[in-house]
Parts: sequence; structure tokens; C-alpha cells
Amino acid sequence: MTGKRELILGIESSCDDTAIALVDREGNVLGAEVATQELIHGAHGGVYPEFASRAHARSIIPAISKVLEVSGVTHKDLRAIGVTRGPGLIGSLMVGLHAASGLGLGWGVPVIGVNHLRGHLRSADLEQRRVTYPAVILLVSGGHTFLAHMESPTEVRMLGTTRDDSVGEAYDKVARMLGLGYPGGPAIDRLAATGTANISFPRPMMGEALDFSFSGLKSSVARYLEKNRDPIVADVAASFVRACLDVLIAKSRAALTANKSSALIIVGGVAASPQLRAEAKSLTDEMGVDLCLPPLKWATDNGAMIALAAWDYVELGHYPAPIAQTRIPLSMM
Ligand code: KG4
Ligand code: ZN
Repeated sequence: MTGKRELILGIESSCDDTAIALVDREGNVLGAEVATQELIHGAHGGVYPEFASRAHARSIIPAISKVLEVSGVTHKDLRAIGVTRGPGLIGSLMVGLHAASGLGLGWGVPVIGVNHLRGHLRSADLEQRRVTYPAVILLVSGGHTFLAHMESPTEVRMLGTTRDDSVGEAYDKVARMLGLGYPGGPAIDRLAATGTANISFPRPMMGEALDFSFSGLKSSVARYLEKNRDPIVADVAASFVRACLDVLIAKSRAALTANKSSALIIVGGVAASPQLRAEAKSLTDEMGVDLCLPPLKWATDNGAMIALAAWDYVELGHYPAPIAQTRIPLSMM
């Protein structure tokens, strides 16, 4: 590299993966590394916060060194470091923030505390510009489910959000009830593809504006499993997925109808679901708008989306301090 300071180093450690990436202003990813904690948390059926922080502390510096080395980049090529400041688990966030602050100080590179949700919002533009504005965006992750309207990459207006569980959380909890382990989303998807959606679970808040609620659906699956001791688990998974998709697609349709948009963007871990991708394609074809999806590897948490969001902050001249904020609204940069 030339030492022209044209890259951002993205650091994401808000939950259970230590993810690092180098991204240029166009969203090209020059190098990326993920130290996954699947094996650590798999044994517990969910994320164990103290184990997560310890694993981040072990992996973060080796992961950063590896990305720089493999990409042939030094700190002289860095315009900034973008690091997730929240929302997330406090201990996990602190590891990323301290690593970023120390490196920034030592290297003389500015450090930007990025809102994790802003990272997801920008993930569909990684590797290639896909998004056309104005757009409706559906974010479906483990921590959040909401619909928003975007006039531009940085102008976002919330349309509706979940009153309780996120859809990813419901996937994970139902996966645990079915004995599928953690993380549950991909396992539920695979099982659902082999079953029939013949159980009528509720479609929560179907008629109520653009807000979501998935807790009742999850409880309804639990009650079904209590009453039916020998269920066909593939049919339970298929019926659960059917109910989730019906809600997500109906609300996306309503949001597109009510808000001038040329695209539907779907981001977050559940955007890796092949069923959701296929149904969103039918919806956007029918409505004559573009469907913008992140490549599969950038749908779940990653460092590249944090780096791309950090480029927006650089452009706005807004450098939030790398200080943990476990809850940050989407409206905040
Ligand atoms: O965006 P993400 O990586 O983390 C958060 O910011 O929360 O999302 C994680 C969520 C988990 O609930 C996981 O089960 C779900 O995304 N997920 C999936 C799939 N891959 C991950 N859900 C459905 N289908 C998938 N293929
Ligand atoms: Zn996330």
C-alpha cells in the first residue's frame, strides 16, 4: 500500500464473534477475519457474556494483526479505526473499544465509536454498490427487528419496531426447544426446508401498523410442544418459519406501499435465510422495486459493515468517542 490513509479498520465485538475488516470508501473489503465463539457458546445453548468477553480478549489483537499482515497494510494506510460502541454486551464491547483506543493512540489514527445498527444498515453496499434510495429497510438480527425508511445512507426514520423479542431471538429460542443447538437460525432453516407448514401458529400483530412482536409466537410453539410429546419436528420448524415470514413479508409490503421507495433492503443475521430471500424477491418483483441484500457473509455480524458505517461518520465530520453505550437508538449516528 502507499501510506495514503485510504482504509478504515473495522472492529466488531458486540456479541459473540470477534470480527475485523479493512474497507475502502467504496465498500471494497481488502481483508477480513472472524474469530467465532460458536464452540464456546454452543455447549450452553446461548451466549454466556463472561465467556464472550474473555474470548474477545484472547482473539482481538491476533485477528487485527492477521488482517493487516495478510492484506499487506500498515497503520499508515488507515484513515480511521471504526469500532462498535453499542448496542451490545458491555464486557464484549469494552474489549473492542479498549483495543481500538490503544491502537489509535499508538498509531496516531482517529478512533470512531460506531452504532452497530448503523453498520447493519450499510451492509448491503459492501463489495458492490447495490442500494438505491429512497428505500425501505427491514433489519432482522438476533438483537433487533425493525422497519425504517432511508432517504440516504445517513438519513433514517424508524417506521416500526418489535415490542418484545426479535425474530432472530425467536429462531434461537425455538431452535433450543427443538434441541437444535446454538446458533439456531441456520439449523431451523435447514430443518424447515424438509417439513410441511401444517400447524397454525399465530401471526402476531398482523393488523397493527408496522410494529412486530414475536414472543407470543415463540410461546405458542412451546405450548404445542408441551401438548404434543412426539412431534414431527420438521413440521414444527416449517410452520414456525412460515408464521415469521408471513409477518415479515406483510409488514414489508405495507411499509413499501406507504413510503415512497425504489428499493427494499433486508439486513441482519436472519437476512441469511434462503426462504426469506426467496419470498422477498417475489415481493419486490411484484411491487417493481429493487431488492438489496448483503452477500451472505456480511448479513451476520462482521467488521466490514462497521468500517463502511465509519466512512459515513468521516464524511459527516462526526467522530463519536469510543465509549461503550449498551443501548443506542437507531436515530443516533
Ligand atoms: O445480525 P446478527 O449476526 O447478530 C445481531 O446483531 O444480533 O444476527 C444473529 C441472528 C441469530 O438470531 C441467528 O439465529 C440468526 O441471526 N440467523 C439466521 C440465519 N443465520 C443467522 N436466521 C435464519 N436463517 C439463517 N440462515
Ligand atoms: Zn448485529
